Amino acid sequence: MGLIVSENLQKDYQAGEVTVRALKGVSFNIEPASFVSFVGPSGSGKTTLLNLIGCLDKPTGGSLKIGEADVSALDRKQGASFRGKNIGFIFQDFNLMPVLTVYENIEYPLLMVQEVPVKEREKRILNLLQAVGMLEQKDKYPDQISGGQKQRVAVARALVTNPMLVLADEPTANLDHSTAYRVIELMKKMRDEFKTTFIFSTHDQKIVGEAEIIYTLEDGELTGKQVKGGGKNA
Ligand SMILES: Nc1ncnc2c1ncn2[C@@H]1O[C@H](COP(=O)(O)OP(=O)(O)OP(=O)(O)O)[C@@H](O)[C@H]1O
Ligand SMILES: [Mg+2]
Repeated sequence: MGLIVSENLQKDYQAGEVTVRALKGVSFNIEPASFVSFVGPSGSGKTTLLNLIGCLDKPTGGSLKIGEADVSALDRKQGASFRGKNIGFIFQDFNLMPVLTVYENIEYPLLMVQEVPVKEREKRILNLLQAVGMLEQKDKYPDQISGGQKQRVAVARALVTNPMLVLADEPTANLDHSTAYRVIELMKKMRDEFKTTFIFSTHDQKIVGEAEIIYTLEDGELTGKQVKGGGKNA
């Protein structure tokens, strides 16, 4: 059974008189612990799709299931609750809080959505700091570390609530190529270690090759699926 099952998923935006058909019936099935990318030109619907999977927006048609939940049927409040428990996010501009240290930035989602005892919290954060190679920088502030390091912190932050799924919309857009490549490799390593499904979008052809399953979006439609050899889903 798929972790994410999308059937004929549609999203229309109303812009004044004009209806923009951003997703025109998209169907796919993503297994647990997958490392997946959605690629496509600007305006093809990548952000729209990730926003639907992330329960940040609702589809106008079709159905979307994540685990046991029919997320297309959740209202705003239920969506927020589901998101907090099950989904981690990585953003293209890192979204770290400037007044919090690296350690505190990773801790923040735990304080927001889950009641985790202090000792367990500390253990989890130190473990993640170690895993993303940022333990020595834990007391620094975001403006004291590099872009690549900020994204490492953001990867740790996305995982701190033990989500089943991490979504990353263009996570490498603000990084140079070799740093971008290392961030994607780190995400893959985290998938191996924590068995968390990762889905990222990109329009960088060099980066997308690191995904094990690559879906191509064009003008709101899925026009291709490529499965790379060697991966567990091959
Ligand atoms: N809030 C909105 N209101 C109206 N139209 C929107 C809205 N958000 C996106 N769109 C339109 O929906 C389509 C898909 O946009 P989307 O942002 O999902 O594309 P994208 O693949 O993420 O593009 P990019 O690579 O530039 O980030 C585009 O035609 C876009 O103009
Ligand atoms: Mg986008």
